[in-house]
Amino acid sequence: MFAVHLLAFYFSKLKEDQIKKVDRFLYHMRLSDETLRDIMARFQAEMQRGLGRDTNPTASVKMLPTFVRAIPDGSENGEFLSLDLGGSKFRVLKVQVSEEGKQKVQMESQFYPTPNEIICGNGTELFEYVADCLADFMKTKGLTHKKFPLGLTFSFPCRQTKLEDGVLISWTKKFKARGVQDTDVVSCLTKAMKNHKDVDVDILALVNDTVGTMMTCAYDDPYCEVGVIIGTGTNACYMENMSNIDLVEGDEGRMCISTEWGAFGDDGALEDIRTEFDRDLDLGSLNPGKQLFEKMISGLYLGELVRLVLVKMTKAGLLFGGKKSSSLHTKGRIETRHVAAMEKYKEGLANTREILTDLGLEPSEADCIAVQHVCTIVSFRSANLCAAALAAVLTRLRENKKLARLRTTVGVDGTVYKIHPQYPKRLHKVVRRLVPNCDVRFLLSESGSTKGAAMVTAVASRVQAQRKQVDRVLALFRLSREQLVGVRDQMRAELEYGLRRDTHLRATVKMLPSYVCGMPDGTERGNFLALDLGGTNFRVLLVKIRSGRRSVRMYNKIFAIPLEIMQGTGEELFDHIVQCISDFLDYMGLKGAPLPLGFTFSFPCRQTGIDKATLIEWTKGFKATDCEGEDMVDMLREAIKRRNEFDLDIVSVVNDTVGTMMTCAYEDPNCEIGLIAGTGSNMCYMEEMRNIEVVEGDEGKMCINTEWGGFGDNGCIDDIRTQYDKEVDEGSLNPGKQRYEKMTSGMYLGEIVRQILIDLTRQGLLFRGQISERLRTRGIFETKFLSQIESDRLALLQVRRILQQLGLDSTCEDSIVVKEVCGAVSRRAAQLCGAGMAAIVEKRRQDQGLEHLKITVGVDGTLYKLHPHFSWILQETVKELAPKCDVTFMLSEDGSGKGAALITAVAKRLQQEQKEN
Ligand code: BG6
Ligand code: BG6
Ligand code: GLC
Ligand code: GLC
Repeated sequence: MFAVHLLAFYFSKLKEDQIKKVDRFLYHMRLSDETLRDIMARFQAEMQRGLGRDTNPTASVKMLPTFVRAIPDGSENGEFLSLDLGGSKFRVLKVQVSEEGKQKVQMESQFYPTPNEIICGNGTELFEYVADCLADFMKTKGLTHKKFPLGLTFSFPCRQTKLEDGVLISWTKKFKARGVQDTDVVSCLTKAMKNHKDVDVDILALVNDTVGTMMTCAYDDPYCEVGVIIGTGTNACYMENMSNIDLVEGDEGRMCISTEWGAFGDDGALEDIRTEFDRDLDLGSLNPGKQLFEKMISGLYLGELVRLVLVKMTKAGLLFGGKKSSSLHTKGRIETRHVAAMEKYKEGLANTREILTDLGLEPSEADCIAVQHVCTIVSFRSANLCAAALAAVLTRLRENKKLARLRTTVGVDGTVYKIHPQYPKRLHKVVRRLVPNCDVRFLLSESGSTKGAAMVTAVASRVQAQRKQVDRVLALFRLSREQLVGVRDQMRAELEYGLRRDTHLRATVKMLPSYVCGMPDGTERGNFLALDLGGTNFRVLLVKIRSGRRSVRMYNKIFAIPLEIMQGTGEELFDHIVQCISDFLDYMGLKGAPLPLGFTFSFPCRQTGIDKATLIEWTKGFKATDCEGEDMVDMLREAIKRRNEFDLDIVSVVNDTVGTMMTCAYEDPNCEIGLIAGTGSNMCYMEEMRNIEVVEGDEGKMCINTEWGGFGDNGCIDDIRTQYDKEVDEGSLNPGKQRYEKMTSGMYLGEIVRQILIDLTRQGLLFRGQISERLRTRGIFETKFLSQIESDRLALLQVRRILQQLGLDSTCEDSIVVKEVCGAVSRRAAQLCGAGMAAIVEKRRQDQGLEHLKITVGVDGTLYKLHPHFSWILQETVKELAPKCDVTFMLSEDGSGKGAALITAVAKRLQQEQKEN
């Protein structure tokens, strides 16, 4: 009994002495909590530096965006392949994910060796080898029948710009293949796969092993938002707020950041805690000066650190009686698995003896105890350092969420964590001590990171499928050259049809004679009133024309026409107009002067003279009753009479296209075409009298208001109309009418966009599948919003803000899609308008028998003026489809009121001349 006690005493004394000895020797490797807190603070600062745009280039902790935005939501589905390269083992997997009520994942995998000559050889050969293994796997598993989406777990620092690419920043750990650094590893693998014609994969995701691990764990525990690897190398990833990631556009939601914390200290930030052993180890490594934090922590280095310590202690005579062995002096002879074995709770001491003996040493009991303690100190330091960095990440997460207490899960993988008997416990304990305000669950990733990589791939493949759906919709709006030529030729045919007497009344492009025959010659003068009704604004103007100097002065006032008046009775509408005129005359002090008036009335009217205009039908947003079939001049006259306050001499009624042409022709006599691309869409031009069969006389020219908005009302362009165009048409005030206008003008483009967005939302491709009340509201996308959204200078964030203004709560992805939709719709509009214009200029060229026509088009309208791309696309299209015409577009700065006044002046002069005759 006594002997037993004595032995125990002897042993514990021996142990105490050895431990003290080692503790003294490795004093520098033992880190106090205070030091750990200090390291934690340093790492927090490093993360911040890595995330900042300006500080990232020089930061040693790279904080790499991974483009993984969401953790799996359980709706993932399908079969995926997955590669796992960069850890201690290289694996190929097939993962089958199915919903089946509860989530279910089935995996089949195969390990392949990674010989040193491959991972440190030529880069091309490395990827060929990987491709060979993948092909072998696919063949043996019978997977050659179809194309598989593939996720690549690649456990090295890569700079990504999207999920499916990644440029290797530098090799770490055991890899050092030549010619891969600074190249895109996905392309490298894709290229290598070309050697295998019989297998087909689509690499959809490149993920770091930390990310894969986090995802694997998140599939089982939705709280998991951190992934840590303590294996051959070490690293961590976590979900960061997008608003904190300068290097990626957008601030919506979160994105996973691979910290690459292994490089912490590469800038010297950890010199005070690095020891001589760390420095020696680094010098003998494949990447000296790099991954200094990793070299104090991870499995590739722990055994070597222990070995270096033992060599030094032996030299100092503190171990093995100072006797060395050649094995102990051989690099790499002690591995992490040895360290783990030596630290085993019960067998540890026996294991130590065995391992040391294998190294050709003759250890005493005391030596074994000392060596075991060396292992403990080295691996404990590893756990401590890891804990400090992880505590920094957790603190960041907690602060990002503005929580006093964070509940979270950390997914962990890696051989050190898995095989070292004490490691997990120590790590957990220190982390909990360093961040007492975080409730952390550590979850071991049982199935490696590949399952997670497959999840990422599954999400990516869903996104890709969605993208395809969006593209399919947008493709409907992309017109080929043939289609545009078709539109041009069809328009040409319809123009001719409208001009002919026998077909005129049935024509959809009405070709209305305007009775405007001459251009102003500069001798016009006087004061005129003008009304401008039918565009975005209703205006009353006073136009003062001075002859000789060709100077025109204008005074105008904009009045609102309430919706209930636009769509009330005709009498109410004209009473309102007269009320506005009265206000204007009062305002200008002109009551009592019976001024000549020119009326720009922007709707289709059948005219029998310059002052006689029967409204055929309302278009755009007007629908006042008892007007169609009536003479607009009469209705205005009667309203003036009803008011009985002032008199006016209504001399002319003109369409806005005609007014616009005149306004521009006053400056440029070559202007013989007027175009409106605004609320509505229309065009007028000077036609030879001999071609206008419905008007007597063959001499000279007359302006024809084409009313091309009605083009297609006979179904001739139905092949290019989409379901969205049809929906817009059905919801409009004039279903079946103005089909071309409804594809080309401001009042409808926004509506088309809205219909597409509703459809995409219904398909779950936008706005999280939620169709909001706002989106159901007709007319929310006014031309000005379309123009703003499509402005190139606008960052995505601003697009989102505009959408928010419109009451649409969008993510960044949503904003991209909305912008694309707007672009597709407005581009088609400009092209269609261009095709129509090409028809008319070609006609004019041929009618005049010219080889080459030079002509000016006067243009007005908010779409043309405000939209960033409409005008140039229109012009390009005209150039393309009417190459023999040199068409100049002249923007009408003064609106069509000026033109109306000029026409009135000319008419007045002619009236005068007639009277005098
Ligand atoms: C595996 C993962 O389980 O762990 C790999 O599937 C990862 O992706 C590896 O790289 C890390 O541990 P080790 O010890 O193999 O480097
Ligand atoms: C104005 C003209 O400048 O443009 C109007 O004066 C015309 O006559 C209008 O109707 C067309 O553009 P919008 O975009 O206002 O319909
Ligand atoms: C190295 C790699 C890193 C990886 C880690 C764990 O640190 O640089 O990308 O995550 O090892 O395998
Ligand atoms: C509508 C009208 C037309 C007008 C055009 C532009 O198409 O019918 O007369 O010119 O809009 O305002």
